[in-house]
Amino acid sequence: MVLTLSKRVLCFIVTFTCLLQLTKPSNLREDTLLQGHPLAATNRLISPSGLYTLRFFQLDGGSEANTKFYLGISANNFSYYVWLANRDNPIHDDPGVLTIDEYGNLKIVSSTTTMILYSVEAESNKSVRASLLDTGNFVLHELNSDGSVKRVLWQSFDYPTDTILPGMKLGYDKHSGHKWSLTTRRSYRTLWSGSFSLSLDPKTNQLVTRWRGAIVWSSGEWRNGSFCNLNSSSHERENFNFTFFSNESLTYFEYASVSGFLIMGPLGIINASGVPYSCTDSEIVSGCAMPQPPKCRKDSDLYLPSWNSFGAMSRKGYIFDERENLTISDCWMRCLKNCSCEAYTYAFKDATGCEIWSRHTSDFVESNSGVGRPIFFFLSQTKTKGKKRRIWIEGAAVGVLLLIVSFIASFIMLWRKQKERVEKRKKRANIFSDIGENTEISVACDEGREQWNEKTGNDTHKFEFITILEATDNFSFTNKIGEGGFGPVYKGKLPNGQEIAIKRLSKSSGQGSVEFRNEAMLIVKLQHTNLVRLLGFCIEREERILVYEYMANKSLNLYLFDATTRTELDWKIRYKIIQGIAQGLVYLHHYSRLKVLHRDLKASNILLDNELNPKISDFGMARILTWTRVEEKTNRIVGTYGYMSPEYVMSGVISSKIDVYSFGVLLLEIVSGKKNISDSFSLNLIGYAWQLWIQGEALKLIDTMLNGSCPDIQVIRCIHIGLLCTQDKANDRPTMLEVISFLSNENTQLPSPLQPPLYTSKSVKEECCSNNEITLSMTSGK
Ligand SMILES: *[C@@H]1O[C@H](CO)[C@@H](O)[C@H](O)[C@H]1NC(C)=O
Ligand SMILES: *[C@@H]1O[C@H](CO)[C@@H](O)[C@H](O)[C@H]1NC(C)=O
Ligand SMILES: *[C@@H]1O[C@H](CO)[C@@H](O)[C@H](O)[C@H]1NC(C)=O
Ligand SMILES: *[C@@H]1O[C@H](CO)[C@@H](O)[C@H](O)[C@H]1NC(C)=O
Ligand SMILES: *[C@@H]1O[C@H](CO)[C@@H](O)[C@H](O)[C@H]1NC(C)=O
Ligand SMILES: *[C@@H]1O[C@H](CO)[C@@H](O)[C@H](O)[C@H]1NC(C)=O
Ligand SMILES: *[C@@H]1O[C@H](CO)[C@@H](O)[C@H](O)[C@H]1NC(C)=O
Ligand SMILES: *[C@@H]1O[C@H](CO)[C@@H](O)[C@H](O)[C@H]1NC(C)=O
Ligand SMILES: *[C@@H]1O[C@H](CO)[C@@H](O)[C@H](O)[C@H]1NC(C)=O
Repeated sequence: MVLTLSKRVLCFIVTFTCLLQLTKPSNLREDTLLQGHPLAATNRLISPSGLYTLRFFQLDGGSEANTKFYLGISANNFSYYVWLANRDNPIHDDPGVLTIDEYGNLKIVSSTTTMILYSVEAESNKSVRASLLDTGNFVLHELNSDGSVKRVLWQSFDYPTDTILPGMKLGYDKHSGHKWSLTTRRSYRTLWSGSFSLSLDPKTNQLVTRWRGAIVWSSGEWRNGSFCNLNSSSHERENFNFTFFSNESLTYFEYASVSGFLIMGPLGIINASGVPYSCTDSEIVSGCAMPQPPKCRKDSDLYLPSWNSFGAMSRKGYIFDERENLTISDCWMRCLKNCSCEAYTYAFKDATGCEIWSRHTSDFVESNSGVGRPIFFFLSQTKTKGKKRRIWIEGAAVGVLLLIVSFIASFIMLWRKQKERVEKRKKRANIFSDIGENTEISVACDEGREQWNEKTGNDTHKFEFITILEATDNFSFTNKIGEGGFGPVYKGKLPNGQEIAIKRLSKSSGQGSVEFRNEAMLIVKLQHTNLVRLLGFCIEREERILVYEYMANKSLNLYLFDATTRTELDWKIRYKIIQGIAQGLVYLHHYSRLKVLHRDLKASNILLDNELNPKISDFGMARILTWTRVEEKTNRIVGTYGYMSPEYVMSGVISSKIDVYSFGVLLLEIVSGKKNISDSFSLNLIGYAWQLWIQGEALKLIDTMLNGSCPDIQVIRCIHIGLLCTQDKANDRPTMLEVISFLSNENTQLPSPLQPPLYTSKSVKEECCSNNEITLSMTSGK
């Protein structure tokens, strides 16, 4: 009995093992393909030491109706398909097999198509086998009758895609006409061949990058073992380590580096062992021949890609024919050449194709969550004479920022001779002088090894990271003067004694970097006595730092809501502050050409200089409203309790009236010296003011510290304006232009305010908190 059972178990085990053996892919961990033993989709060839794998794969999962299968070789330690057999002939529906038939033909066969990789001449049957070598080369060998290798019939190294591995060639064979060259992918999301290639130019015997046939970069002559345009650093010499060979029929460069590789990315950027080498900043790289921009564009537009932002355009742009197989670089060029084109991006899901928009035909709606396509923008080049203060169309600052970032990236590998460097600096200075019309910008980069700055006007500011470290005593706690929405603010002192305020973005805060960009971009373009002035910025590795003029008296809230300092704010000063804030807002809303909404106006964002002049600060939340549009909606609501208008909190409607509302609250706070939301009254300040107003006792609202020292008419007028600005309906609120005229012209008849909804301070909070969509920058006025 026991015996029978154990026999059965044994039998079962044996059968099971046999089954396992049968179901196991036959070629697993094998490197060689034999005649008559097809490589199926579930199988793979692995090179002897496991470095490379040849297999069928599917791009981007099978969600699309039309599945595509490819055969490729992946490098296992940097997970990239270094070779593709059928990049432009994907197999549909079923993955197919790779097979060597009895005649010796190497081919990919599926139910619908056959693609021949190597075919033997007619009627000359061959004994062959194909092996994946440790070099990443897939080689078809002809065998002698004794099974030894006779010769190489075909090898994947002869048909490069976008990657050069050690041992691969770039060149040509005059006799056979065969060429070895790289062709980029059309985009990172697709495998189709794209528009850049790297090849040996027979005329000059140089390596050249072509973009749709036109040369955009050349390596320079091959002299004494290296390329002229590439011999400046040991890094380059290692990465572009080739040997040259030429006889009557063959001319080629063979990649000699043992460990490296070169990948040419979709934008024509050569990625040498992970270090990008690119022509997108033609000042850095020798041998670039970027096309001339048309007159309507600037040289700086030639940095591809120009700045981008995630989101959508409100209307459809012009979409080029899909069959043109356009890449994003082609799209950039189409847009560059069409002077009315302002924005461009790819048109299809796989990041190919091209859609462009002309100026003023469509508005950009930024996506805060990073969904949508990146939209690339060109800067407006129209320069109006006579207008001294040139305000830049959205993007100037960001464009330059991107430029700097790409510069830093490229620079790490390139140390040019000192003389060359000086010349380049001059060129760069020109780019910066454009922005410098408004601002002194200084940028320190590359860990202080290379730092450069640009000035206009009389002051020079040098902001190396090390300078900032010294100025703030290593960001010491004692120098910290506040905490902004996305990072601490420090006080610093430059070696020349000038005091500065330094806003340091908290590291690794993704959200913060959006706001950094936002703030830098906006504030560079905005210049007004009632806006805080940016002196410069510093980008270094993860550090993002903004440098401002220092405001001796810090922020309004510290004065206004403090029992002792409040006494210093007499009515004259308060009135000056109210007018200053109003002037700053009018500038933002009406005169700055960009229609800027601050969105986070509050007492703590009003800074006071040593004469107690107010300056609006903190543009991290600011938005640009396009001119054609008065109102927008957002689902990311940012702001501060008590200062946000009802329609904004409830439904995310954005218009200039949300700043007007905040201004109204601020105005009432300044008059009363009380916070809008505080425990001192059951209603909020607005409700309280309204109650006093209808009882005809508005003057009771006034800060007791003012001791009746102020002209009643002016105060009443301010309260009146404050109530108008905080009306429930946006349409009932005045514009900032009207506010200015109300303030400056005491004879203007003011409309009567309507009753504001009488929220208690508590219920406002609850309402905000119950809405999940609301994100608040700060929980209360700091
Ligand atoms: C090639 O092989 C096929 C099939 O094995 C055979 O029918 C044919 O005669 C062979 N041809 C030559 C030239 O050997
Ligand atoms: C080529 O290199 C060798 C050794 O590096 C050097 O001696 C020789 O002068 C170089 N020739 C030229 C033309 O630069
Ligand atoms: C590269 O080296 C050659 C000679 O060695 C020299 O003439 C050329 O100026 C160098 N090029 C660069 C970019 O440094
Ligand atoms: C090029 O590669 C070979 C082989 O790896 C190496 O011996 C040589 O030093 C390399 N040359 C440079 C300039 O790095
Ligand atoms: C050129 O060199 C290749 C490789 O060494 C050789 O096979 C070929 O015969 C040569 N051609 C001529 C015309 O010398
Ligand atoms: C991949 O492995 C090879 C051999 O170990 C090594 O030479 C090469 O540097 C590795 N590549 C990367 C990107 O790690
Ligand atoms: C360069 O290649 C490395 C390794 O394959 C990759 O991580 C990096 O993203 C590439 N960079 C660019 C600019 O393509
Ligand atoms: C676009 O690409 C497809 C597939 O690669 C090709 O068949 C077609 O000829 C290309 N069209 C143009 C205009 O290059
Ligand atoms: C420029 O692009 C617009 C579409 O945005 C198009 O209507 C116009 O014809 C183009 N102009 C030229 C000269 O191609």
